[in-house]
Amino acid sequence: MKIWAHRGCSQRYPENTLTAFSRAAKLYEKGLCGIELDIQLTRDSKMVVIHDERIDRTTDGCGFVRDYTLEELKTFHIHTGKEEPEHIPTIDEVLDLLENKLRAGLLLNIELKNSIYPYEGMEGKITELVRERSLQKQVVWSSFSASSLEKLRNLLPDAEIGILDGKASDCLYKLKGGCGANAIHPFWRGIDVSAGKIKDYTVRAWLGGHLYPEKPTGGRLGLKELEKKGITDVFLNEPEVYL
Ligand code: G3P
Ligand code: CA
Repeated sequence: MKIWAHRGCSQRYPENTLTAFSRAAKLYEKGLCGIELDIQLTRDSKMVVIHDERIDRTTDGCGFVRDYTLEELKTFHIHTGKEEPEHIPTIDEVLDLLENKLRAGLLLNIELKNSIYPYEGMEGKITELVRERSLQKQVVWSSFSASSLEKLRNLLPDAEIGILDGKASDCLYKLKGGCGANAIHPFWRGIDVSAGKIKDYTVRAWLGGHLYPEKPTGGRLGLKELEKKGITDVFLNEPEVYL
């Protein structure tokens, strides 16, 4: 089972922050496969790393990411426990932070958060940035939007692309419909097909909850059970517990 840090080490540190990513990067030597993050576009078309379309839950501001310029967004704070608060990071800042670990072999799953607002042009912008930095082989792409993945596939014919959905059957449906994905990223409780049906795919499953992963046994997650269902990778908020 390959283990990924979902939004960084997002149980102990605020999700999608430089602190959460830097804690996750330290786990590479312990066997962490990769780090997952979410990107959205600001009003002035800058790529920022944040999960929600709004900034209310994770910062001291309110409103939509797409209604603020990057300069305006940077005035809001995220308290990570350090003396100085952080701000919503740009993807550039995160790539600067992770670049050495990525070159050493750590993977990065960039999820395009564009199923609610399509953020026109985001696929072109992010693929260009990853190409400029020659990090194509280190990135796994994903989105809930099949049409966005089609665009990504056209831009990056050799890319590793996962289609997101709640159920494995819905992922397979979109994948076979020609969205260009080669892997599926279902919710971990959404494995509604037999292991045989997904045995030829990489199946990266994500756990629910913003801060607290669900633990079916009330204790440590039974990774062996998930493997039997055909899951090959898991996105966890607290990867440090399972490595
Ligand atoms: O990419 C896996 C997972 O992050 C998808 O759901 O809502 O946590 O972005 P969400
Ligand atoms: Ca995500």
